[in-house]
Amino acid sequence: KKYSIIASVLETPKIGEVTEVKGWVKSLRVQKEFIFADVNDGSCAQKLQIVIPKNLPIDDNLTYGSSVHITGKLSKSPRGQLELIADNINVLGKCVILDGYPFNPRTVHPPEYIRKFLHLRSRTNYIAAILRVRHAVTTHIHNYFAKKNYIHIHTPILTSNDCEGAGEVFKVQPENNETIKAMMQEGKNRDSVYFGTKTYLTVSGQLHLEAICRGMGDVYTLGPTFRAENSRSRLHLSEFYMLEAEIAFCDSMEKLQKVIEDLLKYIFIETRNTNEADLFLIDKSNKTPDWLNKQFVTLPYDEARNVLCAKGLDVTEEGINKEQELTLVDHCQAPVFIVQWPKNLKSFYMKESSFDNSKVDALDLLAPLTGEIVGGSLREDNYEKLKAKLPSDALNWYLELRKFGNIPTGGFGLGLERILQVLCNIPNIKDTLPFPRWPHNCDM
Ligand code: 4AD
Ligand code: MG
Repeated sequence: KKYSIIASVLETPKIGEVTEVKGWVKSLRVQKEFIFADVNDGSCAQKLQIVIPKNLPIDDNLTYGSSVHITGKLSKSPRGQLELIADNINVLGKCVILDGYPFNPRTVHPPEYIRKFLHLRSRTNYIAAILRVRHAVTTHIHNYFAKKNYIHIHTPILTSNDCEGAGEVFKVQPENNETIKAMMQEGKNRDSVYFGTKTYLTVSGQLHLEAICRGMGDVYTLGPTFRAENSRSRLHLSEFYMLEAEIAFCDSMEKLQKVIEDLLKYIFIETRNTNEADLFLIDKSNKTPDWLNKQFVTLPYDEARNVLCAKGLDVTEEGINKEQELTLVDHCQAPVFIVQWPKNLKSFYMKESSFDNSKVDALDLLAPLTGEIVGGSLREDNYEKLKAKLPSDALNWYLELRKFGNIPTGGFGLGLERILQVLCNIPNIKDTLPFPRWPHNCDM
């Protein structure tokens, strides 16, 4: 590859040197002696200004949106701006708005419009910037855990457990007729089987992480998870990426909360350093949140209820709703850990609180804009108590982890897309990943 990516041309400009770039034309201005083209290749938020002398042979197909290969000399304009004085420009692929190209340079297209063209939307500055930030956040997460000596584990996508027990699983079954016929001959029900056992797309890798943690110590995973919630909100996807960590020998909520808070602040600080221009491109008003220098607030569930009650908001049996989550964040003026949850609102694996057996040592971390961004808990390590709450015999392997060399552990799951929403101020979660899946939307 002879040409350079624009990010490295801008980072270490070699004035006077012959330089080759390839990318897409983001704007074009025709003046008396020169044509000015801004070219971007996706490697960074910035564009490289190309100066095209009018005496060069210029292809009619050089338009907004076309892909180009340019050779020229790098120079500084009288105003000190870096520019490439083209001596050769080659249009690789034309792009004609009249042929149906949906974007044009004179309009600021709203995200709802851009979302209709998933296959073309990486051409927009907004989505390209978000995808670069997503890449950076993923890198920072791996760096964080590498520094802390966690081991990265690949947990399975196909599983027979519904970890959260919320009945929001997608079932997996073979399409092949012969397989289904053979299974039915064996007396199996075709609606519920994958080669003979109920199988789902995973809702969480937690139970598998817990198994590995009880042999190898601190572990984490970052992968796709699936939820069949029929929610079309701006905060829910059918397929999303979850970072999950399981901390060995974790015997207090304080230790668990410390890891979450430390990790989140690390992600925010590092990404502001590495991707400042992208954050600005996504949202001009984006600034460092005040809470980065503060300690997160901790509020027991009952106290949170009282706070809401005093504001005239009634918490029902079903727990704190989204509007109430956001009210609590506003009240605390910082991300807030809601702890000591009523047992009936939380999953079977959570540890019974030692000072109130109607409560579990669980947490939800609530943040501005999205409400819940992290869910976690200490894990029930008492064999008998866990056995009594086990939702199915298929989880006997999980129970058995408590029988052989058990240790206390705690862990959490952090929604990558929700973190991106908060970090970049992205109103709709569907814009945080390249190909969003939500109820009834999986066309490409
Ligand atoms: O609170 P959840 O359901 O927790 C678990 O799955 C635990 N097993 C994690 C663990 O302890 N290892 O989900 C964790 C986070 C939520 O706080 C939220 O950020 C995100 O996953 N999340 C979703 N994000 C997008 N779309 C959805 N439908 C989501 N459901 C959960
Ligand atoms: Mg949750």
